[in-house]
Amino acid sequence: MSENDVCKLTDFTVSCGCAAKVGGGALREILAQVPQAVDNRLLVGSGNFDDAAVYQLNEEIALVETLDFFPPVVDDPYTFGQIAASNALSDIYAMGGEPLTAMAIVCFPTKTLSTDILVAILRGGADKVKEAGAVMVGGHTIEDERPIYGVVVTGRINPGKIVTNAGAKSGDLLILTKPLGTGIIITAMKAGLAGQPEMDEVIASMVALNKPASQIMLEEGVNAATDITGFGLLGHLLELAAASRVAVEINISSVPLFSSAIEHARMGLIPEGAYRNRDFAGSRVTFASEVNLAEQDLLFDPQTSGGLLISVPAEKADALLKKLQQQGVEKARLIGEIVSGDEGFIRITK
Ligand code: CO
Ligand code: CO
Repeated sequence: MSENDVCKLTDFTVSCGCAAKVGGGALREILAQVPQAVDNRLLVGSGNFDDAAVYQLNEEIALVETLDFFPPVVDDPYTFGQIAASNALSDIYAMGGEPLTAMAIVCFPTKTLSTDILVAILRGGADKVKEAGAVMVGGHTIEDERPIYGVVVTGRINPGKIVTNAGAKSGDLLILTKPLGTGIIITAMKAGLAGQPEMDEVIASMVALNKPASQIMLEEGVNAATDITGFGLLGHLLELAAASRVAVEINISSVPLFSSAIEHARMGLIPEGAYRNRDFAGSRVTFASEVNLAEQDLLFDPQTSGGLLISVPAEKADALLKKLQQQGVEKARLIGEIVSGDEGFIRITK
């Protein structure tokens, strides 16, 4: 956008870089009042809070479906479109699916923002969908006070090869494929406290598809996976721990972080969503006394277009990590393990 524009795109962002997602606790209460679909063709529904729904068509093919949308997290409209599409596609990749088609969901204030901005958002999204090997086939746009953009994705998956968040086993090692800290650094950017180099690092990560990580995990064979988005590492990890009925231990020193994330967290640039995530997850997480507050905040930080969290048998972990790092997923790290202990609980060590 030029400097003459009345509004910056991120002026429309609600309080955090994560899209002001409804908190996990509130969402659970709401969904508990809505009857859940029961159908023997529905292989993965909303019960375990998995990434995408899976609906079986025949022995070899199931549909895998998801959607995601949010207000701008960056000011450049083309980049925002790319990030939103990459984020939506990620749920298909987390389950080991192949995206086929996408449709755009758009709210846009044509009275306050130039339609050139909308064109750039749509082009960014369409280009990212094309990069994923899928086709943008349509969408729906309404006039609204603030811009929102998102994507519905339909993909295919082999019903025998679905990677859910429910398959983690005691003894597995955990790999995270992108650094944490997008919410904190976007908050710093909006406060005028993040420099261009650090924004560039975060944007490159948010724009990057989880496609290579997904393909490599399928080749190597893993027990469970999910992607890290609005509920933060610990929120999504708790969903995995609960669905898999296991306990988890994470070593904070091994968790990949954006270079300036700890510094901004220490300055108190914490998005509201991180506090919501802590309220929801906090009682099921214990921290060793050496884990400081800034480190804790990063583990609750809501991520936009975060990485895959993969649970892999220990004997396969080294080969998987090496392959990821050699094939474009350089930031992937081993961050912890699945342990025996209280089901659905997480311990953070240092
Ligand atoms: Co997800
Ligand atoms: Co999602």
